[in-house]
Amino acid sequence: MTADWTAFDHAARADADARIVDQFAADPGRLERMSLEAAGLFLDLSKQSWTRAGFEACLGLAHSAGVEAARARLFDGEAINSTEGRAVLHPALRAAKGGAFHALGEPVSAEVDAVRADMAAYATAVRSGAETGATGKAFTAIVHIGIGGSDLGPRVVWDALRPLEPAIDLRFVANIDPRDMAEALTGLDPETTLVVVVSKTFTTQETLANARAAQAWLAAGLPEAGRDKHFIGVTAAPDKAVAFGCARTFAFRDWVGGRYSLWSAVSLSCVIALGPDVFEAMLAGAAAMDDHFVAAPLDRNAPVLMALAQIWNVDGLNRPARTVAPYAHALRRLPAFLQQLEMESNGKRVHRDGSPVTRQTCPVVFGEPGTNGQHAFFQQIHQGPQVVPAEFVVVKATHDAAPESPLWSNALAQGQALMVGKTTDQAHAELLAAGADAAEADRLASHKTFPGNRPSTTIVMDRVTPETLGALLALYEHKNFVEGVIWDINSFDQWGVELGKVLAKAILADVTAGAPSAALDPSTAGLLTRLA
Ligand code: F6P
Repeated sequence: MTADWTAFDHAARADADARIVDQFAADPGRLERMSLEAAGLFLDLSKQSWTRAGFEACLGLAHSAGVEAARARLFDGEAINSTEGRAVLHPALRAAKGGAFHALGEPVSAEVDAVRADMAAYATAVRSGAETGATGKAFTAIVHIGIGGSDLGPRVVWDALRPLEPAIDLRFVANIDPRDMAEALTGLDPETTLVVVVSKTFTTQETLANARAAQAWLAAGLPEAGRDKHFIGVTAAPDKAVAFGCARTFAFRDWVGGRYSLWSAVSLSCVIALGPDVFEAMLAGAAAMDDHFVAAPLDRNAPVLMALAQIWNVDGLNRPARTVAPYAHALRRLPAFLQQLEMESNGKRVHRDGSPVTRQTCPVVFGEPGTNGQHAFFQQIHQGPQVVPAEFVVVKATHDAAPESPLWSNALAQGQALMVGKTTDQAHAELLAAGADAAEADRLASHKTFPGNRPSTTIVMDRVTPETLGALLALYEHKNFVEGVIWDINSFDQWGVELGKVLAKAILADVTAGAPSAALDPSTAGLLTRLA
Protein backbone atom coordinates (compact mmCIF):
# COMPACT_ATOMS: atom_id res chain seq x y z
CA MET A 1 0.00 0.00 0.00
CA THR A 2 1.13 3.56 -0.65
CA ALA A 3 0.46 6.34 1.82
CA ASP A 4 -2.09 8.93 0.77
CA TRP A 5 -0.52 12.28 1.66
CA THR A 6 -3.39 14.49 0.46
CA ALA A 7 -5.14 15.02 3.79
CA PHE A 8 -1.75 15.21 5.56
CA ASP A 9 -0.51 18.01 3.29
CA HIS A 10 -3.79 19.87 3.59
CA ALA A 11 -3.69 19.65 7.40
CA ALA A 12 -0.02 20.68 7.51
CA ARG A 13 -0.77 23.81 5.49
CA ALA A 14 -3.71 24.61 7.76
CA ASP A 15 -1.60 24.09 10.90
CA ALA A 16 1.45 26.04 9.73
CA ASP A 17 0.77 29.01 11.99
CA ALA A 18 -1.00 27.23 14.86
CA ARG A 19 0.44 27.85 18.34
CA ILE A 20 0.99 24.69 20.34
CA VAL A 21 0.16 26.36 23.61
CA ASP A 22 -3.29 27.38 22.32
CA GLN A 23 -4.21 23.81 21.43
CA PHE A 24 -4.80 22.72 25.03
CA ALA A 25 -7.78 25.08 25.29
CA ALA A 26 -8.97 24.30 21.76
CA ASP A 27 -8.95 20.57 22.49
CA PRO A 28 -9.48 19.81 26.20
CA GLY A 29 -8.77 16.10 25.58
CA ARG A 30 -5.37 16.87 24.03
CA LEU A 31 -3.11 15.75 26.86
CA GLU A 32 -4.98 12.48 27.27
CA ARG A 33 -5.19 11.88 23.52
CA MET A 34 -1.49 12.52 22.95
CA SER A 35 0.05 10.83 25.97
CA LEU A 36 0.21 7.17 26.91
CA GLU A 37 1.89 4.49 28.99
CA ALA A 38 3.65 1.63 27.21
CA ALA A 39 5.91 -1.07 28.68
CA GLY A 40 6.96 1.02 31.67
CA LEU A 41 7.45 4.24 29.71
CA PHE A 42 5.22 7.31 29.70
CA LEU A 43 5.14 9.41 26.52
CA ASP A 44 3.85 12.95 26.21
CA LEU A 45 3.45 14.13 22.61
CA SER A 46 1.05 16.95 23.45
CA LYS A 47 3.82 19.55 23.00
CA GLN A 48 4.13 18.55 19.35
CA SER A 49 3.06 21.04 16.69
CA TRP A 50 -0.05 19.24 15.54
CA THR A 51 -3.56 20.46 16.16
CA ARG A 52 -6.20 17.82 16.69
CA ALA A 53 -6.95 17.91 12.94
CA GLY A 54 -3.25 17.51 12.14
CA PHE A 55 -3.00 14.60 14.56
CA GLU A 56 -5.99 12.90 12.91
CA ALA A 57 -4.48 13.48 9.46
CA CYS A 58 -1.28 11.78 10.61
CA LEU A 59 -3.26 8.78 11.82
CA GLY A 60 -5.01 8.68 8.44
CA LEU A 61 -1.59 8.63 6.79
CA ALA A 62 -0.53 5.63 8.91
CA HIS A 63 -3.71 3.76 8.01
CA SER A 64 -3.40 4.52 4.31
CA ALA A 65 0.24 3.36 4.32
CA GLY A 66 -0.82 -0.04 5.66
CA VAL A 67 1.22 0.11 8.86
CA GLU A 68 -0.76 -2.72 10.46
CA ALA A 69 -0.25 -5.08 7.51
CA ALA A 70 3.44 -4.16 7.30
CA ARG A 71 3.84 -4.81 11.02
CA ALA A 72 2.37 -8.29 10.47
CA ARG A 73 4.90 -8.94 7.68
CA LEU A 74 7.75 -7.93 10.01
CA PHE A 75 6.65 -10.29 12.77
CA ASP A 76 5.83 -13.05 10.27
CA GLY A 77 9.44 -13.04 9.07
CA GLU A 78 8.73 -12.08 5.46
CA ALA A 79 11.53 -10.72 3.25
CA ILE A 80 10.87 -7.06 4.08
CA ASN A 81 14.53 -6.23 3.49
CA SER A 82 13.78 -6.46 -0.19
CA THR A 83 17.17 -5.47 -1.65
CA GLU A 84 18.90 -8.26 0.26
CA GLY A 85 15.99 -10.72 0.26
CA ARG A 86 16.06 -11.06 4.04
CA ALA A 87 13.59 -11.21 6.88
CA VAL A 88 14.05 -8.71 9.73
CA LEU A 89 13.37 -10.55 12.91
CA HIS A 90 15.00 -8.85 15.89
CA PRO A 91 11.76 -9.35 17.90
CA ALA A 92 12.43 -13.12 17.72
CA LEU A 93 15.63 -12.57 19.71
CA ARG A 94 13.85 -11.13 22.71
CA ALA A 95 10.64 -13.17 22.76
CA ALA A 96 9.97 -15.39 25.76
CA LYS A 97 11.62 -18.78 25.43
CA GLY A 98 9.73 -21.32 23.33
CA GLY A 99 8.61 -18.81 20.70
CA ALA A 100 7.35 -19.73 17.24
CA PHE A 101 9.04 -17.20 14.94
CA HIS A 102 9.84 -18.05 11.33
CA ALA A 103 12.28 -16.30 8.97
CA LEU A 104 11.22 -16.78 5.34
CA GLY A 105 9.23 -19.78 6.55
CA GLU A 106 12.11 -21.40 8.44
CA PRO A 107 11.56 -21.86 12.21
CA VAL A 108 14.16 -19.87 14.19
CA SER A 109 13.07 -19.74 17.82
CA ALA A 110 14.68 -23.01 18.94
CA GLU A 111 18.04 -21.84 17.60
CA VAL A 112 17.60 -18.44 19.26
CA ASP A 113 16.88 -20.13 22.60
CA ALA A 114 19.88 -22.41 22.21
CA VAL A 115 22.27 -19.48 21.59
CA ARG A 116 20.80 -17.63 24.57
CA ALA A 117 21.36 -20.68 26.76
CA ASP A 118 24.93 -21.05 25.44
CA MET A 119 25.69 -17.42 26.16
CA ALA A 120 24.27 -17.68 29.66
CA ALA A 121 26.29 -20.82 30.41
CA TYR A 122 29.51 -19.29 29.09
CA ALA A 123 28.90 -15.99 30.89
CA THR A 124 28.21 -17.81 34.16
CA ALA A 125 31.40 -19.83 33.77
CA VAL A 126 33.48 -16.70 33.10
CA ARG A 127 31.87 -14.82 35.98
CA SER A 128 32.39 -17.66 38.44
CA GLY A 129 35.98 -18.26 37.40
CA ALA A 130 35.21 -21.79 36.13
CA GLU A 131 36.27 -20.61 32.65
CA THR A 132 39.79 -19.21 32.94
CA GLY A 133 42.50 -17.91 30.67
CA ALA A 134 45.62 -19.73 29.43
CA THR A 135 47.46 -19.41 32.75
CA GLY A 136 44.52 -20.45 34.91
CA LYS A 137 43.60 -16.96 36.06
CA ALA A 138 40.00 -15.73 36.06
CA PHE A 139 39.00 -13.07 33.52
CA THR A 140 38.62 -9.60 35.02
CA ALA A 141 38.41 -7.55 31.81
CA ILE A 142 36.81 -7.81 28.39
CA VAL A 143 37.87 -5.91 25.28
CA HIS A 144 34.90 -5.75 22.91
CA ILE A 145 35.97 -5.07 19.32
CA GLY A 146 33.33 -4.07 16.75
CA ILE A 147 31.97 -1.05 14.90
CA GLY A 148 28.58 0.38 13.93
CA GLY A 149 25.83 -1.97 15.01
CA SER A 150 28.44 -4.32 16.46
CA ASP A 151 29.47 -1.59 18.89
CA LEU A 152 26.85 1.07 19.54
CA GLY A 153 24.12 -1.11 21.06
CA PRO A 154 26.31 -2.96 23.57
CA ARG A 155 27.95 0.35 24.48
CA VAL A 156 24.58 1.94 25.32
CA VAL A 157 23.68 -1.11 27.38
CA TRP A 158 26.94 -1.16 29.31
CA ASP A 159 26.93 2.56 30.05
CA ALA A 160 23.29 2.40 31.15
CA LEU A 161 23.47 -0.67 33.38
CA ARG A 162 27.09 -1.02 34.55
CA PRO A 163 27.73 -1.15 38.27
CA LEU A 164 29.97 1.60 39.65
CA GLU A 165 32.65 -0.93 40.50
CA PRO A 166 32.20 -3.82 38.07
CA ALA A 167 33.82 -7.18 38.86
CA ILE A 168 34.56 -7.47 35.15
CA ASP A 169 35.72 -4.31 33.40
CA LEU A 170 34.36 -3.90 29.88
CA ARG A 171 36.11 -1.73 27.31
CA PHE A 172 35.12 -1.03 23.71
CA VAL A 173 37.29 -0.53 20.63
CA ALA A 174 35.69 0.60 17.36
CA ASN A 175 38.01 3.07 15.68
CA ILE A 176 40.71 1.77 13.33
CA ASP A 177 42.96 4.48 14.77
CA PRO A 178 45.43 2.45 16.90
CA ARG A 179 45.00 5.05 19.61
CA ASP A 180 41.58 3.57 20.41
CA MET A 181 43.05 0.11 21.01
CA ALA A 182 46.00 1.57 22.93
CA GLU A 183 43.63 3.37 25.30
CA ALA A 184 41.50 0.26 25.80
CA LEU A 185 44.47 -1.97 26.56
CA THR A 186 46.14 0.44 28.97
CA GLY A 187 46.38 -1.14 32.40
CA LEU A 188 45.08 -4.53 31.24
CA ASP A 189 46.88 -7.83 31.72
CA PRO A 190 46.60 -10.35 28.86
CA GLU A 191 46.39 -13.16 31.43
CA THR A 192 43.07 -11.84 32.75
CA THR A 193 41.67 -10.28 29.56
CA LEU A 194 39.08 -11.76 27.24
CA VAL A 195 38.86 -10.33 23.70
CA VAL A 196 35.45 -10.53 22.05
CA VAL A 197 35.47 -9.72 18.32
CA VAL A 198 32.00 -8.82 17.05
CA SER A 199 31.29 -8.57 13.35
CA LYS A 200 28.22 -9.77 11.50
CA THR A 201 30.15 -10.19 8.27
CA PHE A 202 33.63 -10.73 9.72
CA THR A 203 34.95 -8.70 6.79
CA THR A 204 34.83 -5.17 8.24
CA GLN A 205 38.23 -3.56 7.75
CA GLU A 206 38.29 -1.64 11.03
CA THR A 207 37.25 -4.60 13.14
CA LEU A 208 39.67 -7.02 11.52
CA ALA A 209 42.59 -4.59 11.91
CA ASN A 210 41.76 -4.15 15.59
CA ALA A 211 41.28 -7.89 16.04
CA ARG A 212 44.75 -8.50 14.56
CA ALA A 213 46.23 -5.92 16.96
CA ALA A 214 44.52 -7.65 19.89
CA GLN A 215 45.80 -11.04 18.72
CA ALA A 216 49.35 -9.64 18.65
CA TRP A 217 48.92 -8.20 22.15
CA LEU A 218 47.69 -11.55 23.47
CA ALA A 219 50.51 -13.40 21.69
CA ALA A 220 53.11 -11.13 23.28
CA GLY A 221 51.82 -11.78 26.78
CA LEU A 222 50.58 -15.38 26.82
CA PRO A 223 51.87 -18.90 26.14
CA GLU A 224 50.51 -20.46 22.99
CA ALA A 225 48.72 -23.28 24.82
CA GLY A 226 45.27 -22.09 25.84
CA ARG A 227 45.69 -18.65 24.27
CA ASP A 228 42.65 -19.22 22.09
CA LYS A 229 40.50 -19.13 25.24
CA HIS A 230 41.11 -15.36 25.24
CA PHE A 231 39.81 -14.74 21.71
CA ILE A 232 36.09 -15.21 21.05
CA GLY A 233 34.11 -14.41 17.89
CA VAL A 234 30.51 -13.25 17.55
CA THR A 235 29.28 -13.33 13.98
CA ALA A 236 26.81 -14.41 11.33
CA ALA A 237 29.78 -15.90 9.42
CA PRO A 238 31.30 -18.42 11.89
CA ASP A 239 33.48 -20.03 9.21
CA LYS A 240 35.25 -16.70 8.64
CA ALA A 241 35.69 -16.15 12.40
CA VAL A 242 37.19 -19.62 12.81
CA ALA A 243 39.53 -19.04 9.86
CA PHE A 244 40.60 -15.79 11.55
CA GLY A 245 41.56 -17.64 14.72
CA CYS A 246 38.48 -17.67 16.95
CA ALA A 247 38.35 -21.09 18.54
CA ARG A 248 34.95 -20.38 19.99
CA THR A 249 32.16 -18.49 18.26
CA PHE A 250 28.63 -17.37 19.10
CA ALA A 251 26.41 -16.99 16.07
CA PHE A 252 23.43 -15.06 14.86
CA ARG A 253 21.63 -15.12 11.52
CA ASP A 254 21.51 -12.77 8.55
CA TRP A 255 17.95 -11.78 9.49
CA VAL A 256 19.45 -9.79 12.36
CA GLY A 257 20.35 -6.35 10.98
CA GLY A 258 23.59 -4.88 12.39
CA ARG A 259 21.88 -1.88 13.99
CA TYR A 260 19.14 -4.14 15.40
CA SER A 261 21.55 -6.74 16.73
CA LEU A 262 22.06 -5.81 20.38
CA TRP A 263 19.49 -8.43 21.38
CA SER A 264 21.67 -11.20 19.92
CA ALA A 265 25.08 -12.63 20.76
CA VAL A 266 26.42 -9.21 19.73
CA SER A 267 25.84 -8.30 23.39
CA LEU A 268 27.86 -11.28 24.67
CA SER A 269 30.34 -8.92 26.38
CA CYS A 270 27.46 -7.31 28.29
CA VAL A 271 25.96 -10.68 29.15
CA ILE A 272 29.28 -11.64 30.74
CA ALA A 273 29.98 -8.31 32.45
CA LEU A 274 26.41 -7.64 33.64
CA GLY A 275 25.23 -11.21 34.10
CA PRO A 276 22.70 -13.29 32.13
CA ASP A 277 19.80 -12.27 34.39
CA VAL A 278 20.30 -8.61 33.57
CA PHE A 279 20.37 -9.40 29.85
CA GLU A 280 17.22 -11.52 30.10
CA ALA A 281 15.45 -8.69 31.94
CA MET A 282 16.42 -6.30 29.16
CA LEU A 283 15.06 -8.72 26.56
CA ALA A 284 11.82 -8.95 28.56
CA GLY A 285 11.49 -5.14 28.56
CA ALA A 286 11.93 -5.06 24.80
CA ALA A 287 9.43 -7.92 24.37
CA ALA A 288 6.91 -5.92 26.40
CA MET A 289 7.31 -3.09 23.89
CA ASP A 290 6.91 -5.59 21.02
CA ASP A 291 3.65 -6.76 22.60
CA HIS A 292 2.44 -3.19 22.90
CA PHE A 293 3.42 -2.39 19.31
CA VAL A 294 1.58 -5.43 17.99
CA ALA A 295 -1.57 -5.07 20.09
CA ALA A 296 -2.25 -1.36 20.58
CA PRO A 297 -4.49 0.46 18.10
CA LEU A 298 -2.58 2.96 15.99
CA ASP A 299 -3.90 6.01 17.86
CA ARG A 300 -2.65 4.59 21.20
CA ASN A 301 0.52 3.02 19.86
CA ALA A 302 3.76 4.53 21.19
CA PRO A 303 6.09 3.76 18.25
CA VAL A 304 3.39 4.82 15.77
CA LEU A 305 2.77 8.17 17.47
CA MET A 306 6.50 8.84 17.76
CA ALA A 307 6.90 8.10 14.04
CA LEU A 308 3.98 10.33 13.12
CA ALA A 309 5.33 13.24 15.17
CA GLN A 310 8.62 12.96 13.30
CA ILE A 311 6.92 12.76 9.89
CA TRP A 312 4.70 15.72 10.77
CA ASN A 313 7.81 17.77 11.56
CA VAL A 314 9.93 16.59 8.64
CA ASP A 315 7.38 16.31 5.83
CA GLY A 316 4.58 18.52 7.07
CA LEU A 317 6.51 21.44 8.54
CA ASN A 318 9.89 21.16 6.79
CA ARG A 319 12.05 20.60 9.88
CA PRO A 320 14.92 18.37 8.76
CA ALA A 321 16.63 17.83 12.14
CA ARG A 322 15.77 16.51 15.59
CA THR A 323 17.70 16.65 18.83
CA VAL A 324 17.53 13.96 21.50
CA ALA A 325 18.48 14.83 25.07
CA PRO A 326 18.52 12.02 27.62
CA TYR A 327 18.32 13.52 31.10
CA ALA A 328 20.35 10.73 32.70
CA HIS A 329 24.09 10.22 32.62
CA ALA A 330 23.45 6.50 32.21
CA LEU A 331 21.80 7.17 28.83
CA ARG A 332 24.57 9.40 27.52
CA ARG A 333 25.27 7.16 24.51
CA LEU A 334 21.65 7.10 23.36
CA PRO A 335 22.05 9.91 20.78
CA ALA A 336 25.00 8.12 19.14
CA PHE A 337 23.01 4.87 19.05
CA LEU A 338 20.03 6.64 17.50
CA GLN A 339 22.17 8.31 14.87
CA GLN A 340 23.01 4.92 13.40
CA LEU A 341 19.62 3.37 14.05
CA GLU A 342 17.72 6.17 12.36
CA MET A 343 20.10 7.65 9.81
CA GLU A 344 21.47 4.34 8.52
CA SER A 345 17.96 2.86 8.40
CA ASN A 346 15.98 5.73 6.96
CA GLY A 347 18.51 8.00 5.28
CA LYS A 348 17.29 6.79 1.89
CA ARG A 349 16.52 8.47 -1.42
CA VAL A 350 14.56 5.82 -3.28
CA HIS A 351 11.35 3.96 -2.60
CA ARG A 352 11.21 0.21 -2.21
CA ASP A 353 10.65 -0.12 -5.97
CA GLY A 354 13.74 1.99 -6.75
CA SER A 355 11.90 5.14 -7.80
CA PRO A 356 13.12 8.43 -6.28
CA VAL A 357 11.40 9.58 -3.10
CA THR A 358 9.22 12.65 -3.43
CA ARG A 359 9.18 13.51 0.28
CA GLN A 360 11.90 14.13 2.85
CA THR A 361 13.01 11.01 4.74
CA CYS A 362 15.21 10.73 7.84
CA PRO A 363 16.13 14.00 9.54
CA VAL A 364 19.57 14.72 10.97
CA VAL A 365 19.56 13.26 14.48
CA PHE A 366 21.91 14.66 17.09
CA GLY A 367 22.08 15.14 20.80
CA GLU A 368 23.92 15.19 24.06
CA PRO A 369 22.83 14.27 27.54
CA GLY A 370 20.95 16.90 29.48
CA THR A 371 21.96 19.21 30.95
CA ASN A 372 25.24 19.27 28.96
CA GLY A 373 23.42 20.02 25.70
CA GLN A 374 21.70 23.01 27.31
CA HIS A 375 25.11 24.64 27.73
CA ALA A 376 26.10 23.94 24.14
CA PHE A 377 23.63 23.85 21.25
CA PHE A 378 20.35 24.59 23.00
CA GLN A 379 20.86 28.30 22.30
CA GLN A 380 20.14 27.51 18.66
CA ILE A 381 17.13 25.37 19.57
CA HIS A 382 15.60 28.25 21.54
CA GLN A 383 16.44 31.22 19.36
CA GLY A 384 17.86 30.08 16.02
CA PRO A 385 15.72 30.80 12.96
CA GLN A 386 15.33 27.08 12.13
CA VAL A 387 12.92 25.07 14.27
CA VAL A 388 14.57 21.89 15.61
CA PRO A 389 12.14 19.53 17.35
CA ALA A 390 13.46 18.19 20.64
CA GLU A 391 13.02 14.88 22.42
CA PHE A 392 13.59 14.62 26.15
CA VAL A 393 14.18 11.24 27.75
CA VAL A 394 13.52 11.89 31.39
CA VAL A 395 14.33 9.61 34.33
CA LYS A 396 12.68 10.14 37.68
CA ALA A 397 15.53 8.74 39.80
CA THR A 398 18.86 8.68 37.97
CA HIS A 399 21.05 7.69 40.89
CA ASP A 400 20.72 6.50 44.47
CA ALA A 401 22.13 9.74 45.86
CA ALA A 402 19.48 12.37 45.10
CA PRO A 403 20.95 15.38 43.26
CA GLU A 404 20.63 18.90 44.63
CA SER A 405 17.63 19.43 42.38
CA PRO A 406 16.07 16.69 40.27
CA LEU A 407 17.59 16.49 36.83
CA TRP A 408 14.16 15.99 35.31
CA SER A 409 13.11 19.47 36.40
CA ASN A 410 15.56 20.84 33.83
CA ALA A 411 13.96 18.82 31.05
CA LEU A 412 10.53 20.06 32.00
CA ALA A 413 11.80 23.64 32.03
CA GLN A 414 13.31 23.22 28.57
CA GLY A 415 10.14 21.76 27.09
CA GLN A 416 8.05 24.51 28.62
CA ALA A 417 10.40 27.29 27.50
CA LEU A 418 10.51 25.93 23.96
CA MET A 419 6.74 25.82 23.75
CA VAL A 420 5.77 28.99 25.63
CA GLY A 421 8.65 31.29 24.70
CA LYS A 422 8.80 34.92 25.80
CA THR A 423 7.42 37.91 23.93
CA THR A 424 9.38 41.11 23.41
CA ASP A 425 6.91 42.93 25.67
CA GLN A 426 7.54 40.41 28.43
CA ALA A 427 11.30 40.70 27.97
CA HIS A 428 11.02 44.48 28.04
CA ALA A 429 8.96 44.47 31.24
CA GLU A 430 11.39 42.05 32.90
CA LEU A 431 14.33 44.28 32.04
CA LEU A 432 12.62 47.31 33.54
CA ALA A 433 11.71 45.29 36.64
CA ALA A 434 15.35 44.27 36.98
CA GLY A 435 16.43 47.93 37.06
CA ALA A 436 17.29 48.65 33.42
CA ASP A 437 16.46 52.12 32.13
CA ALA A 438 14.07 52.47 29.19
CA ALA A 439 16.86 52.84 26.60
CA GLU A 440 18.63 49.72 27.80
CA ALA A 441 15.34 47.77 27.90
CA ASP A 442 14.62 48.89 24.32
CA ARG A 443 18.08 47.82 23.24
CA LEU A 444 18.05 44.37 24.86
CA ALA A 445 14.42 43.24 24.66
CA SER A 446 14.67 41.64 21.21
CA HIS A 447 17.79 39.71 22.28
CA LYS A 448 15.85 38.30 25.23
CA THR A 449 12.80 37.36 23.16
CA PHE A 450 12.03 33.67 22.60
CA PRO A 451 9.68 32.86 19.72
CA GLY A 452 8.39 29.73 21.47
CA ASN A 453 6.05 27.37 19.65
CA ARG A 454 8.90 24.88 19.32
CA PRO A 455 7.81 21.25 19.59
CA SER A 456 9.08 18.55 21.89
CA THR A 457 8.26 15.02 22.97
CA THR A 458 8.95 13.83 26.50
CA ILE A 459 9.56 10.18 27.35
CA VAL A 460 9.50 9.36 31.06
CA MET A 461 10.76 6.35 32.98
CA ASP A 462 11.05 5.88 36.74
CA ARG A 463 14.54 4.41 36.65
CA VAL A 464 16.99 3.13 34.09
CA THR A 465 16.53 -0.60 34.62
CA PRO A 466 17.23 -3.46 32.22
CA GLU A 467 13.49 -3.57 31.52
CA THR A 468 12.98 0.14 30.83
CA LEU A 469 16.17 0.29 28.75
CA GLY A 470 14.98 -2.66 26.65
CA ALA A 471 11.57 -1.05 26.18
CA LEU A 472 13.11 2.30 25.21
CA LEU A 473 15.44 0.86 22.56
CA ALA A 474 12.66 -1.31 21.12
CA LEU A 475 10.39 1.76 21.03
CA TYR A 476 12.91 3.54 18.81
CA GLU A 477 13.37 0.49 16.59
CA HIS A 478 9.64 0.24 15.92
CA LYS A 479 9.29 4.00 15.46
CA ASN A 480 11.95 3.71 12.77
CA PHE A 481 10.12 0.83 11.13
CA VAL A 482 6.81 2.72 10.98
CA GLU A 483 8.54 5.71 9.38
CA GLY A 484 10.06 3.43 6.76
CA VAL A 485 6.64 1.97 5.96
CA ILE A 486 5.08 5.42 5.57
CA TRP A 487 7.98 6.74 3.49
CA ASP A 488 7.90 3.47 1.50
CA ILE A 489 11.65 2.93 1.82
CA ASN A 490 13.72 -0.08 2.83
CA SER A 491 14.85 0.66 6.40
CA PHE A 492 17.03 -2.44 6.58
CA ASP A 493 19.77 -2.08 3.98
CA GLN A 494 22.69 0.41 3.97
CA TRP A 495 24.11 0.71 0.47
CA GLY A 496 25.20 4.26 1.18
CA VAL A 497 27.95 2.97 3.45
CA GLU A 498 29.37 0.69 0.77
CA LEU A 499 30.80 3.25 -1.67
CA GLY A 500 33.07 4.77 1.00
CA LYS A 501 34.36 1.29 1.89
CA VAL A 502 35.21 0.49 -1.74
CA LEU A 503 36.92 3.84 -2.38
CA ALA A 504 38.91 3.57 0.86
CA LYS A 505 40.49 0.40 -0.51
CA ALA A 506 41.33 2.13 -3.81
CA ILE A 507 42.92 5.09 -2.02
CA LEU A 508 44.92 2.76 0.18
CA ALA A 509 46.29 1.17 -2.99
CA ASP A 510 47.41 4.67 -4.14
CA VAL A 511 49.04 5.31 -0.76
CA THR A 512 50.95 2.04 -1.07
CA ALA A 513 51.96 2.95 -4.64
CA GLY A 514 53.17 6.32 -3.32
CA ALA A 515 51.22 8.48 -5.79
CA PRO A 516 47.62 9.33 -6.66
CA SER A 517 46.19 7.40 -9.58
CA ALA A 518 45.02 9.29 -12.65
CA ALA A 519 41.44 8.35 -11.75
CA LEU A 520 41.44 10.63 -8.68
CA ASP A 521 39.84 14.08 -8.81
CA PRO A 522 42.28 17.01 -8.34
CA SER A 523 41.22 17.79 -4.77
CA THR A 524 41.53 14.20 -3.52
CA ALA A 525 44.82 13.76 -5.41
CA GLY A 526 46.16 16.96 -3.82
CA LEU A 527 45.18 15.85 -0.33
CA LEU A 528 46.74 12.43 -0.88
CA THR A 529 49.99 14.02 -2.02
CA ARG A 530 49.97 16.32 1.02
CA LEU A 531 49.33 13.46 3.45
CA ALA A 532 51.30 10.57 1.96
O1 F6P B 1 28.53 0.89 8.85
C1 F6P B 1 28.02 -0.06 7.99
C2 F6P B 1 27.85 -1.35 8.64
O2 F6P B 1 27.57 -2.22 7.61
C3 F6P B 1 26.75 -1.36 9.69
O3 F6P B 1 25.50 -1.56 9.18
C4 F6P B 1 27.21 -2.46 10.58
O4 F6P B 1 26.55 -2.40 11.81
C5 F6P B 1 28.67 -2.18 10.65
O5 F6P B 1 29.02 -1.79 9.34
C6 F6P B 1 29.55 -3.31 11.13
O6 F6P B 1 29.43 -4.44 10.34
P1 F6P B 1 29.93 -5.85 10.82
O7 F6P B 1 29.13 -6.20 12.04
O8 F6P B 1 29.67 -6.78 9.69
O9 F6P B 1 31.38 -5.75 11.16
